[in-house]
Amino acid sequence: MRKLRDWKAKRGAQSLRLIITGTVLCLSCNVQGQSVAKQIPVTPPPMGWSSWNSFSNTVDSRIIMDQAKAMVSNGMAKSGYQYVNIDEGWWLGTRDAEGNILVDAKAWPALATGERAGDMANIVRYIHGLGLKAGIYTDAGMEGCSLHPDLGPVYQHVGSEGHYEQDFLQFASWGFDYVKVDWCGGNQEKLDPAVQYTGIARAIAKAEAATGHRLYFSLCDWGNNSPWTWAPNVGGAPADIWRTSGDIVGPIVPHHQHSGRLASFSDVLSNFDQGIHPEAQHTGFYNDPDMMVVGMPGLTDAQNRVHMSLWAISAAPLLVGADLTTLSNAALATLTNPDVLAVDQDSLGLQAVKVASYGDGLEVWSKPLSTPGERAVLLFNRTGDAAPISVHWGDLGLENSSSATVKDLWARKDLGSFNSSYSATVQPDDAAMVVVRGRESNLTVYTAVGGDVRKGQEVSFTHVASRVHMARVRIAYTNPDKALRYAELRVNGQIPTRIAFPPTGSGNALGVVWIDAMFDRTGTENALNFSSVCDPGPNIESIGVE
Ligand code: GLA
Repeated sequence: MRKLRDWKAKRGAQSLRLIITGTVLCLSCNVQGQSVAKQIPVTPPPMGWSSWNSFSNTVDSRIIMDQAKAMVSNGMAKSGYQYVNIDEGWWLGTRDAEGNILVDAKAWPALATGERAGDMANIVRYIHGLGLKAGIYTDAGMEGCSLHPDLGPVYQHVGSEGHYEQDFLQFASWGFDYVKVDWCGGNQEKLDPAVQYTGIARAIAKAEAATGHRLYFSLCDWGNNSPWTWAPNVGGAPADIWRTSGDIVGPIVPHHQHSGRLASFSDVLSNFDQGIHPEAQHTGFYNDPDMMVVGMPGLTDAQNRVHMSLWAISAAPLLVGADLTTLSNAALATLTNPDVLAVDQDSLGLQAVKVASYGDGLEVWSKPLSTPGERAVLLFNRTGDAAPISVHWGDLGLENSSSATVKDLWARKDLGSFNSSYSATVQPDDAAMVVVRGRESNLTVYTAVGGDVRKGQEVSFTHVASRVHMARVRIAYTNPDKALRYAELRVNGQIPTRIAFPPTGSGNALGVVWIDAMFDRTGTENALNFSSVCDPGPNIESIGVE
């Protein structure tokens, strides 16, 4: 491994020359005949709606149809929301003699001629017919969360334990696109989550192979077992998102018990804080701080905007918990602001990092965006008093001496050009969300010698310099497969994190993904080791560190 000269990632096509053992390798779009390092877009976090927060276990076909229709008619579908997720309460725990799930035919009737009542494929067809995707729910254990229901009655045996292959094949055959797997039964039985979720991930992969139908996997152990350290590649097949905390609110169902319950802003902040694991969130796998409560009783319009800002800057799944048929105009505008959604859905997929804080509760969060030089920035005031908060370009990894433009995302207004920093007065418990467009600072590029992850060997980068503890790392690699390849990254011998490497195409052209790596020390004495998780890994060519 040797250190190469600094290079600048500048906006647009430009020549980036790396001198490697006497030869010149050019990572450029505008130099003929040279290899091209293409930024590989990662799968963005899911956007949609879930039945739990507003309907609890009263969910049925009518409710789902109404919500799906509302998602289309109120413009949310056009803004990118697509999943209609049926949470707990859809199944009452009965199976036939062969162990197949039986559902209540009254709650899930035929919706079109030729359909059979009690067939979940009916509601999936309806959802798909609106151009949307459908989600379903189960538990990793024998029982589900309805053993301790928020609204009665208790239903037993609503978990999939003992039926993993059968149930996930059933979900995929019904046509579902997404499955959330809870941990109530697993918890009660004191099961080992790594073992159970491995079995589930494999059953999902098998169901996908058998049906040719993708099942997005949402893992829900409320962060109890640090899923961010293992979920991105559990059992050799990834969980796509993993919950990082408990429920943001208990269900609020009109005319039922707890109908007077309110969502609370402090719980929103607590879930946001518990969801921050930037070192685990990369290349299409996301921390999930829970369904949003935007538009539910309890939050003001301003708090809804802060909530949305926090989820977007985290690149969190945007799963709305409110009743879509009764959303206020303000809540709808908050949920569909295109600039804020673009931050959440940005194709780098990175989570924000807190880059500065002033005293107790004045914070600056930065999320790098896929256009070089762009950062989404949150100036967040958690105190009880209005206060000015400044963001300095240097703290964002941008050239301090250059000017940068600033756009206010909620006002949807360009604020002009600023030298070195931007400052705004932020109201108590409020946040300003802006995009800063400046010039990238230099990255230091290192190239690997020795080991080959493709052959199960370790690739090491030593004497790596980092000026901050959470540093962005640009990885240039190839993966000629059609599927993801994986490698495990260990920084200074700490707990490894698993990284998925999307396909780069069949040629030798390098692809680039970005991750956030946790350095336990600043300075030049860091070591980064990549090793294979399951053969073959990607070919890792070089890394660039902020
Ligand atoms: C758990 C999950 C919730 C919801 C309920 C259903 O509490 O965290 O999101 O799925 O179960 O009972």
